[in-house]
Amino acid sequence: MKKQLLIASLTLIGSLGVCYTASAAISASKHDFSGTSWTGGQICVPCHAPHNNKNDAGELLWNHTNSTATYQLYSSPTFDANGAGAANTLTFNPAGVSKFCLSCHDGTVAKDAYGSHTAAAGFVTGSSNLGTNLGNDHPVSFPYDAALATTDGFLTAPSALPTSFRLFDGKMECSSCHDVHNKYSVPGLLNASNAGSALCLTCHKK
Ligand code: HEC
Ligand code: HEC
Ligand code: HEC
Ligand code: HEC
Repeated sequence: MKKQLLIASLTLIGSLGVCYTASAAISASKHDFSGTSWTGGQICVPCHAPHNNKNDAGELLWNHTNSTATYQLYSSPTFDANGAGAANTLTFNPAGVSKFCLSCHDGTVAKDAYGSHTAAAGFVTGSSNLGTNLGNDHPVSFPYDAALATTDGFLTAPSALPTSFRLFDGKMECSSCHDVHNKYSVPGLLNASNAGSALCLTCHKK
């Protein structure tokens, strides 16, 4: 009897272990669409495909239809990223990996508009739909370098950031804060917990 219980609890621990591994990854996250009718049970395909994907340049084997929206960009009197004395409006349209996020999150392209799939599953809605006004969102797609940290005066130099806070071609992007594949298993698909605003304080010395 005792032996059976032991085996039962070991099995339970084993299966919990499997559950834990699964939850610390894209599987079962908000970016796992394999349970929907429109993916054929696949996880990666709405975003990446190994062949004949939608991105002619081949970047990241991107397989989702990109947005053609024109965005309203971030502007503020103290924004320094354009260089000292330059205009205070963000001059960089979302490019690279942020453009890929916005291919779903600006709410203009259907979730299942990927590959040759006929889009019918609707759009990202609610608070996850950032819309085409990016003026009310944290700025992205601008160079974040040591000079910017110096000009700002209260920014961590990019070389001193933890490795999970990645820049892409030297630029701050959505993925500098977010973990699209849920590798770190932090709520909100973040690269680090924002409890007590810890995420913000990693870059901003306030
Ligand atoms: C919801 C969209 C989405 C899904 C689903 C997705 N990815 Fe990604 N992936 C991205 C984006 C956006 C990037 C670039 C930004 C980044 O790395 O954070 C990326 C980057 C990558 C990269 C290169 C950079 C890196 O971070 O290593 C690899 C490799 C990759 N994905 C593999 C996969 C695989 C394998 C799957 C399925 C198990 C998958 N992705 C599912 C959106 C997605
Ligand atoms: C294929 C479409 C697609 C792409 C591409 C995509 N997402 Fe999402 N994302 C979704 C959907 C759908 C949801 C769920 C929305 C909801 O729950 O209403 C979601 C949810 C999220 C959430 C909320 C997570 C939570 O736990 O509440 C975040 C954050 C997020 N995405 C960030 C990103 C970032 C950053 C990128 C690019 C690196 C990206 N997404 C690319 C479709 C996408
Ligand atoms: C400076 C860091 C930062 C950047 C850059 C950033 N985000 Fe976020 N994002 C956050 C934080 C923090 C949250 C809140 C997460 C939570 O409450 O769980 C969030 C929440 C979200 C959500 C969920 C919205 C909700 O209210 O549930 C989505 C979707 C999202 N971000 C997408 C994006 C996309 C797309 C980009 C790029 C255009 C982006 N984020 C850039 C930090 C950032
Ligand atoms: C990966 C680093 C990073 C993270 C994390 C981050 N930021 Fe930023 N943030 C920046 C950079 C770089 C700028 C551009 C600073 C500038 O040009 O003045 C910026 C700009 C801003 C601005 C506009 C400053 C201005 O003068 O217009 C505000 C406000 C801000 N961030 C708040 C936040 C908050 C709140 C969080 C947490 C949710 C956060 N940031 C997380 C790097 C980061």
